[in-house]
Parts: sequence; structure tokens; C-alpha cells
Amino acid sequence: MRSKIAGIGHYVPERIVKNEELAKHMDTTNEWIIERTGIEERRYAAKHEETPTTMGAIASRIAIERAGIQPEDVDFIIFATISPDYYFPGCGVLLQRALGITKTEIGALDIRNQCSGFVYGLSVADQFIRSGMYKNILLVGSEMHSMGLDFSDEGRAVTVIFGDGAGAVLLQPTEEEGKGVLITCLHSDGTHAEELAMINPGSHGGYHLGPEKYGYPPHDSFGGVFVTQKMVDDNLLTPNMTGQLVFKTAVVKFPEVIKEALTKTGLTSEDIDLLVPHQANLRISQFIQKVMRLPDEKVVNNIQKYGNTTAASIPIALSEAWESGRVKDGDLICLAAFGSGFTWGSALIRW
Ligand code: UT7
Repeated sequence: MRSKIAGIGHYVPERIVKNEELAKHMDTTNEWIIERTGIEERRYAAKHEETPTTMGAIASRIAIERAGIQPEDVDFIIFATISPDYYFPGCGVLLQRALGITKTEIGALDIRNQCSGFVYGLSVADQFIRSGMYKNILLVGSEMHSMGLDFSDEGRAVTVIFGDGAGAVLLQPTEEEGKGVLITCLHSDGTHAEELAMINPGSHGGYHLGPEKYGYPPHDSFGGVFVTQKMVDDNLLTPNMTGQLVFKTAVVKFPEVIKEALTKTGLTSEDIDLLVPHQANLRISQFIQKVMRLPDEKVVNNIQKYGNTTAASIPIALSEAWESGRVKDGDLICLAAFGSGFTWGSALIRW
């Protein structure tokens, strides 16, 4: 038994933020952003009205409807995000509530694997379905980065990249010969954990990093250490990235993990009908395309419109490709992601 994507959907907020608008707030230009990243615009969710959960719920309803089931039929939720509504509980239970699922014979799991969250989530869902434990798994990737970015000049290298949005798939078992998720490959390397990270607020207490830098009170004091005044004053509550290191590692790991999936399934890059890479940077995707010797029509790129939406980028891109008829019955679809952690992974799906 394998798992198949029985329904897919996505949602992006209405508000379009063009590069020129960002250039009004920080020292950047439309030309720089397009040249270094390929991004022309991104979406920002409506503050006070939209959250990762509300966006995820819209995408989920579409995926559920396309699968021909009702929300109450979902028996497991996997929610991948790094920009959750709350520090806890996670978005999984919030999504259950938003979808009006009142039964308690359901599990909700949150995945925090950054850009590879969707591929990790797919792998988890696939194992549950193969084992026969669940029959309708809702897997969501949803992000609201616009709430947590640094809009000063200091944050420009990170801020111009990210956007908001959500994608969802409904996974079910299939016994159709050769169809479904053929393989998932997952990897991690914690060596560079802080090179692409948002480490505050957190419970690190300066361990490994130095308490002074973060303004932690003496170790034998009580309370008030989750967010310190120094973190606020020194602008330490937003993400940081060593861009070039991430870029250089990504262009090696993406092709490597795609080739791993192909080799383990006895396939070659010529068998790929559509590659849906995590939308990290257009230059990264073009590099992967070149190494994998894939023609333009076999690679999905929508970073130009949405920026990098982390855990949501693959399901949004896959959903758009499906809606526009680029995903056909019997096609071999390859998903691949790399990001913070570092974590990376790939999946091959026979549609
Ligand atoms: O999805 C998760 C994984 N994330 C990624 O895969 C991101 C990987 N990294 C990247 O995509 C690229 O490294 C960036 C797009 C983040 C940066 O591009 P880059 O070509 O690596 O630029 P850089 O960091 O080497 O900076 C080059 C110059 C610097 O100026 P100087 O020192 O040469 O004077 C930066 O200060 O560009 C400057 N710069 C900017 N200038 C205008 C950095 N950000 C900006 C900006 N606008 N937004």
C-alpha cells in the first residue's frame, strides 16, 4: 500500500508587496532583488485577520473538497510552519478547530522543519498511511513571515526574500499499481544550526551562544528570561541568515538528494516529468535544473510572484502546477527542499 495525493489546494493573501514598496522602507532596489533572487513581488497576510492557521484552513478546505471528502473524515493533521500563531499549542489543533472538526478520534502534529517541513511532513504521513494507521491525512504548510521580519536596513538580505501563503494536500491510501509516493529521503546536519535561524524568543539562556549577548539575568534568578529587554533593544528577535553559506550548501544538497531518490527507485532524471523545488531563490532552482539537465517545462518556478514561503512553497507550487494542468495522471513528480537546520529532503510521487 502506498499513499497518494487525493486533493490539493493553496491560498495566498490578497495583498501584493512589490520590490519597490520594500525599497521605501529599507536600503534595497527592485534590480538587486530580481538579480540576486528572481523575486518580483510577494504576498503579505492581513494583520489582525489572517494567520498561518486561517490561511492553512482555506487551503485545506480546497484540498479536502477536491479529495471528495468532508473535514470530519480527516483522521490526522500534520501542520508544517515556522511562523505559528502561538508559541504553543501548535497550529495543528488550531486548524482542527478552524475546520470545525469536533471529533476527538483524530491526531494533530506540528512539524518545525523550516523549508523542508512539507517534505518531512509528507514522509511522516506516508509512513502512517503505509502502516494502515490513518486513511485521510491532511498535510499543510503555511507561513506568515511578514509578522516576524526586520524591516530596517540591517534585515534587508533576509526580509526581501520571504512571503506569506499556505498549501495543503489530502493523502489517502492507494493500491493502484505503481502509483503514489514512491520514496521520501530525509537528511539533516545540525553543524550550522545558527546560520539560518530565529533563535529568540527561546529557552537557550545563552547556552552555546553567550548569555551576555542576549541580556540574560544571573542563572540563579527566576523568570523574565524568555524575552529580554536586550533582545528587544538589539533587534535580536528576527531571523538571521548567512546567505552565501546557505546558498552554496543548497546547490550541492538539492541535486544530491534528488539523485538519491532516483537511484533508490531505479529511475533517472529523464524519468522526471515535473520538478517542484522549494522556492528558495530562483538562481538556486536554475542551478538544480542545469545539474539535473531538465528542460524549462519540467521545472516549477513561482518564487517571482510569492517569494520564499518556507514550508508552504512546495504545496503552493504543486497546487498551482496541478491547477494549470502541468500535473497529469501517471507523471513522475519530484519534490525537493533544503533549508534551516540544515535539513533537506526529496520525494518522488507517481501521480
Ligand atoms: O529557503 C531557505 C534557504 N534560504 C536560501 O536558500 C537563501 C540562500 N541565500 C541566498 O539566496 C542569497 O545568499 C541572498 C539572496 C540571501 C543574498 O544574495 P547574495 O548574492 O549572496 O548577496 P550577499 O549576501 O553576498 O551580499 C552582497 C551585497 C552585500 O553588499 P557588499 O558587502 O557587497 O557591499 C550586501 O550588503 O549585497 C548587499 N545586500 C543587499 N543590497 C540590496 C544584501 N541584501 C541586500 C538587499 N538589497 N536586499
